[in-house]
Amino acid sequence: MSAKIIDGKAVSQSIREELRTEVAALKGRGITPGLAVVIVGDDPASRVYVNNKKRACAEVGIYSEEHALPAGTRQEELLELVRRLNQDPAIHGILVQLPLPDHLDEKAVLNTIDPDKDVDGFHPVNVGRMVVGEPCFLPCTPHGVLELIRRTGIDLTGKRAVVIGRSNIVGKPVAILLLQQNATVTVCHSKTRDLPAICREADVLVAAVGRAEMVKGDWIKPGAVVIDVGVNRGGDHKLYGDVEFASASQVAGYITPVPGGVGPMTIAMLMKNTVQAAKRAHGLE
Ligand code: GUN
Repeated sequence: MSAKIIDGKAVSQSIREELRTEVAALKGRGITPGLAVVIVGDDPASRVYVNNKKRACAEVGIYSEEHALPAGTRQEELLELVRRLNQDPAIHGILVQLPLPDHLDEKAVLNTIDPDKDVDGFHPVNVGRMVVGEPCFLPCTPHGVLELIRRTGIDLTGKRAVVIGRSNIVGKPVAILLLQQNATVTVCHSKTRDLPAICREADVLVAAVGRAEMVKGDWIKPGAVVIDVGVNRGGDHKLYGDVEFASASQVAGYITPVPGGVGPMTIAMLMKNTVQAAKRAHGLE
């Protein structure tokens, strides 16, 4: 193997340790950052994510409260909870775990969260601020992706970056953030023609498609930075990324593993946003 492994777990751990120190200092000033996590229904993957987020809060010293609502919750009940959390001074960040059950209007729910408490960075106000480069909450996974690239020490200026996937949660925001770092960015998706050829031009390749091991080693430019956002559960119950790690790691310069790459960064960035929200609420930032 030639690629250096980007250890997202270790990076996430060091960010969380820095945050723990910062939270202790805030508590000394009477400020305890607070996160409300809302989960509707009993999706097993969402349950695991929510538990991980609560555990991370406890580790860092952030107060967290869970609002677990039954799958049949009505839209208005959910909106009422969000409005109540918007008004709660102990809560600085609100996270509604997605996906929501089909009968609920995800957009309406996200749009009801106070943008100053939107630690997921999904509210259109924060998305807009991100696009025009104003201070905002950055969405956690894209922020984590950029942080991992930053830590390779590679300057993105003038580099060719290719993002596979155009979701609102990952692909689109990652593309915007890479652009802000002066990369030349191509966004690929299910209708893109000759995807492998485009990928071969990438100095930085970000895969966020949700198809196990779709990106092969011979799609990768030698020495490229490969960031794998995919989390796909195989028939063998193991986790697989969107990149075929065994072949890609022979060619890439840097690569993230799955698990242990981007995943842990998402939670670290959520903690960071929550601490930032608490500081802003108290006029400290
Ligand atoms: N579901 C999958 N990823 C995310 C995320 O980053 N935030 C929320 N709220 N739900 C998710």
